[in-house]
Amino acid sequence: KEITSLTTTWQAPSNIALVKYWGKHGMQLPANPSISFTLNACRTITTVNAVKGEHGFKISYEGVEKPDFAPKIKAFFERISSYSPWIKNYFFNIDTRNTFPHSSGIASSASSMAALSACIIDFESELTGLDLDYDKMSFLSRLGSGSACRSLQGQLVVWGEHDDTVGSSNLYGVDQTKLLHPTFQNYHDTILLVDKGQKTVSSTVGHGLMNDHAFAKARFEQAPQNLTLLKKALMEGDIETFIKITESEALTLHAMMMTSHPYFILMKPNTLRIIEEIWKYRKETQIPVCFTLDAGANVHLLYPNNHRTAVYEWINEKLAVYCQNSQYICDQIGSGASKL
Ligand code: PMV
Repeated sequence: KEITSLTTTWQAPSNIALVKYWGKHGMQLPANPSISFTLNACRTITTVNAVKGEHGFKISYEGVEKPDFAPKIKAFFERISSYSPWIKNYFFNIDTRNTFPHSSGIASSASSMAALSACIIDFESELTGLDLDYDKMSFLSRLGSGSACRSLQGQLVVWGEHDDTVGSSNLYGVDQTKLLHPTFQNYHDTILLVDKGQKTVSSTVGHGLMNDHAFAKARFEQAPQNLTLLKKALMEGDIETFIKITESEALTLHAMMMTSHPYFILMKPNTLRIIEEIWKYRKETQIPVCFTLDAGANVHLLYPNNHRTAVYEWINEKLAVYCQNSQYICDQIGSGASKL
């Protein structure tokens, strides 16, 4: 179809990995399969206006032009152009914003690449008359930022070939929501903002350090095994196993960073203080709270919906003091990208 100007707005959430993706090869292909909860409150909202003409783009954040975002977007368009060649005939005006505070130490690459890819595929379906292709949305977003491909569709998403996951692929995320036992429905993730500074190691550098890492082989064998165990726990409502695998995965991610060359410690003293508080509280109350970590100092506190009132109280009383300016973000499992 011949269209001269098109505008669309999509939102896409962030996601939190339970089995971590750390190490990649080729064109953004993961060294091991990963699984994540899709989040709800932490989102990027992106409006794209595509105008027929010479290819190019302009990127702004909350209406203010952001030339420093341009290299990433340029690389993204270059990578996707062989899969969506029509983009070469359009100029894109992109405006984006996040629902979570800027510089909160929360990476926005997953939600922003997912939202932008959703807009591109929306246009593509307008141009071709075909249905929205969510797999292709996920595929394109992977080329922008690997973990973004887990932010498009479903509450629980697996990315990467895995013998025990039917339909799993290195190219895009697959929706595994149907696995979730009622125990894990509406699961909470409160993000404790320990350090809101810029990350000291970019994920691109971090993935690269797995290339000749002394423990890489063992790690890449362990991750699919952990994924099998975790999926079983999610299906059976087995919180004990869920906690064991999830916390161990977080610590393993950080152990990989501590044992690479160069090496990094991305936890801060308050990260450890919070972990100790979590273990103490779990032992004393039998409330099944646990943690996971990204490649940074913030702690994601995970817990079932039915314990939220007690946990909120405890966060306010004991954990908020360890957060920068007492800040934390209450999030929960959500279901992916949607058009606004
Ligand atoms: O998508 P990237 O390249 O920013 O990598 C994300 C890596 C982790 O967040 C640390 C783990 C994961 O699986 O999301």
